[in-house]
This record gives sequence, C-alpha cells and structure tokens, in this order.
Amino acid sequence: MKAIVTGATGVVGRYLLQHLVERGGWDVVAVSRRKPDIAGRYEHLAVDLLDPEDCRRKLAAHHDATHVFYSAFLQDADPVRHVARNTAMLVNLIEAVESAAPALTHVNLVEGTKWYGSHLGPFRTPAKEVHPRHAGTNFYFDQQDWLEARQRGKAWNWSVVRPHAVCGFSVGSPMNLALALAVYGTLCRELKLPFSHPGPAANCHALYQLTDSTLLAKAMVWMATEPRCANQAFNITNGDLIRWENLWPRLAQFFGIEPGPQRHFSLKAELGGKAEAWNDIVHRHGLQPHRFEDVAAWAFADFVFGSTWDIVSDTGKARRFGFCEAVDSEAMLLALLDGFRRQRVIP
Ligand SMILES: NC(=O)c1ccc[n+]([C@@H]2O[C@H](COP(=O)([O-])OP(=O)(O)OC[C@H]3O[C@@H](n4cnc5c(N)ncnc54)[C@H](OP(=O)(O)O)[C@@H]3O)[C@@H](O)[C@H]2O)c1
Repeated sequence: MKAIVTGATGVVGRYLLQHLVERGGWDVVAVSRRKPDIAGRYEHLAVDLLDPEDCRRKLAAHHDATHVFYSAFLQDADPVRHVARNTAMLVNLIEAVESAAPALTHVNLVEGTKWYGSHLGPFRTPAKEVHPRHAGTNFYFDQQDWLEARQRGKAWNWSVVRPHAVCGFSVGSPMNLALALAVYGTLCRELKLPFSHPGPAANCHALYQLTDSTLLAKAMVWMATEPRCANQAFNITNGDLIRWENLWPRLAQFFGIEPGPQRHFSLKAELGGKAEAWNDIVHRHGLQPHRFEDVAAWAFADFVFGSTWDIVSDTGKARRFGFCEAVDSEAMLLALLDGFRRQRVIP
C-alpha cells in the first residue's frame, strides 16, 4: 500500500505520517509545502495544493499510490474564499492522483464536529453521523459533496473522519488547543499572571471532548483499510468527556501554579501582544526558537473557551464497525504537556 499524506506538517497529518512510518507496511509520500520534522523512511513532496499544475507535475510519478489521506487545511479570513480554497486544494490533489494512479483504492477525508454546527450554538447531542449537516456554508460540505460525486462509478471509495479539538504538536496550526494551553500556562507562571479559565462559567461546566492526534491517526488508517468503512463517515474523539472545571486544577498543578479565578476574557486580546515576553522565556530557558504566533493559536483557544453549550459526539458507530481504541483525555493532555516540556517547547 502506498499512502499520499497531505497536511503532513499539521496537527492531524503530522501524526498520521508518523503513525504510518512507524507502523510499517506502507510506502509513504508526505505532501506539504514545509518539510515535516518526522524521522523515518518516507518521501516528502513540497507541493502547493492550490496550484493544479504543481499537483499534476509532482504526483505524476506516483502511479502506484493506493491511498490518499487528505488532512490539508488553509485558514482564510474571507469566508467565501475559505470554502473555495479548501475545496480547490482537495480537487487539485485528487484529480492529480486519479490521473497518475490507476490502482487508487481509497480517499480518507478529515472533517470535524463543525459538520453538525457545534461552532454555531447549541446543537443536537450526542451528534450522530446520521444527523443532518448544519444550515449554511461549511467547506466540509463542498469537499464531501465533490468527493462523493467524483467517486460514483469509480473503483476507489472514500471515508470521512469527524474529530473534535485535535491535540498534538505542530508548528503554525491555527487550531492547536494543547499547544495554546501550554503557552498560556507558561506565560502565567513566568509572568506571575493568574491561570484563570478564560471562558464564561457555562463553558467551564459544559461537557466537552478532545481528540488525541495519535488515536485519530490510528482511526484514519483503520477506516481507510477496513472494507466495511467504504463510503462512510465516523465521529472519532477520545471516547470520554471532560469539563474544564475538573481539568483546570490538574493543568495548574502541571505548571506548578494555583488555578486563578474563572474570568471571561480574550486570550488573543490580553496575551496576543506578549511575543517579546515569550521570546525572553525562550531565551532564558534555552527553548526551541518557535515564533510566538506559531505556537499560540489564541483565536482558536478563545473559540474553544467561548462556547456555553455541550459539545458531544456519539462515537458508537466507529466501535460497532470495529474501532475500539479510547484515550483518557486528562492523561492525554498532561502527557502532551510533558512531551512539550521534554522537547523544549515550554520550560
Ligand atoms: N485542529 C483541530 O482541532 C481540528 C479539529 C477538527 C477537525 N479538524 C480538521 O482537520 C483538518 C486538518 O486540520 P489541522 O488542524 O491539522 O490543520 P493544520 O495544523 O493547520 O495543518 C494544515 C496542513 O495543510 C497544509 N497546507 C496548507 N496549505 C497548503 C497548500 N497550499 N499546499 C500544500 N499544503 C498545504 C499545511 O502544510 P504546509 O503549511 O507545510 O504547506 C499543513 O500541513 C481540517 O479539515 C480541520 O478542519 C481540525
């Protein structure tokens, strides 16, 4: 089997790349403009997915590709362009792979709980795959509709994974909650700021869910290779639920500080200007020289801590189809933070 992994430097794709390389049995081609920092045997193709000609040219040699894992993502402040560009990237890639690889077997696409409208307000929970998509626009809809139409009558099939709040390490991701928490806790400790839960009290108490990047990678490979998953969508989260009010004291303990009083404020507004303070911390502690804006996705953290409703997916379908792995979310977050410390991302 030969996998084309797009988004290979992202918080989803980076772990998929690592999982495939470590697991063996796969030839792997990593597609991203930047070079992934993952060790092991794979080929990296620096492709701009927005450029159809670049896709065609660089993927032409991969006539033996069998699987595509699509986890590329591009943030665009303009909502219409956001949908258009994310859809175009998928189209450019699939058209290029299809014309190069006659043995293409499967395309796996990453969507998310936003499919059900989790970002818009209270929605029907636990969200099941059979529930309708939310009203309005979402690039997931355009991507999935295009993929389904394209697949009709073809020898390959597709699967779709819908995770929520994917937690792992990546540089420059606009949606990386674990890393934003790591930088927030570090700034609070170093600058002696209160480590307050930054959302409304209802956010502190609401049910929430997280997805470990490695668990997600395993689920994606499973659904791309399990025949029963052909042309199916699956919610994938850690399988448990959290409330920030339970987790917050444990996070404070990790940073060696007291939890501050819950206070609703914008992390982006209050901490977005702390690049100099961050650079000083990096220098004093001999940390990896990541740019502040590359490790602190404040807008996403504000979004996560801004909701006042339960965000819960039903993951029973994946279990019924045979994927039974689960992760303890609290242990996962603490292990990730510990990993960031060992990798000298935070002190
Ligand atoms: N992060 C989450 O919490 C979360 C939760 C639920 C669902 N999702 C979904 O998961 C998918 C992946 O998101 P993510 O968070 O992993 O994104 P990410 O961390 O921002 O990664 C995006 C990836 O896309 C690549 N990319 C962007 N523009 C490109 C271009 N023009 N050409 C080639 N590669 C390009 C980037 O690589 P280069 O910059 O190196 O090119 C990077 O590897 C998205 O559909 C997202 O909605 C994410």
